[in-house]
Amino acid sequence: MQIFIDSADIDDIKDAAAMGLVDGVTTNPSLIAKSGRTLEEVINDIVEIVDGPISAEVISTDCDGMLEEGRKLAKIHENIVVKVPLIAEGLKAVQIFTKEGIRTNVTLCFSPTQAMLAAKAGATYISPFLGRVDDISGEGMELLEQIITIYRNYDMTTQVLAASIRHPLHVVQAALLGSDVATLPHKVIHQLLKHPLTDRGLEQFLADAKKSG
Ligand code: G3P
Repeated sequence: MQIFIDSADIDDIKDAAAMGLVDGVTTNPSLIAKSGRTLEEVINDIVEIVDGPISAEVISTDCDGMLEEGRKLAKIHENIVVKVPLIAEGLKAVQIFTKEGIRTNVTLCFSPTQAMLAAKAGATYISPFLGRVDDISGEGMELLEQIITIYRNYDMTTQVLAASIRHPLHVVQAALLGSDVATLPHKVIHQLLKHPLTDRGLEQFLADAKKSG
């Protein structure tokens, strides 16, 4: 499973990339707002750090507006993937982007039928929001499983990108289901590597090393 970082924080992206963990990056308008910078500024920095797919989201809600924004974003760097909301106008834009060779990440997916339509429109990635489904007492993992099964049944080439991941168990379950990608907040990347026995073992080794002088 590929690991993307879900962040617009340059220090966090640098930290995860330095560990060799980042296959790509996803951003969204909320993450960009939190960074206090413009989308273009953030994206221009990210392309210098990570050599992999970098999702940049459009904010227009009509097809023409999405096309205009997406084409501009795609010109910034060949690694840019245009992130488009899963609405009718978004799917129209995805079809055109696909014909133009611009890769897309269809976001805000909450049902298997939405995922089917995004794949038929030619999406490069589909982003089901697992944590947000869990937030309303749904089963985010069931959604992920349904999408993966449907795509496999019909050899659909859209890659499944598990998003809105909140904790390590989400990552393990997504990997067990065979998700192509999981995009993780910086905090979750660090939670994945943390183990109390590693810390305790290291502490002991260092104490023993001192004894042997
Ligand atoms: O980037 C989309 C997604 O990962 C958002 O996550 O935690 O805001 O639901 P969250």
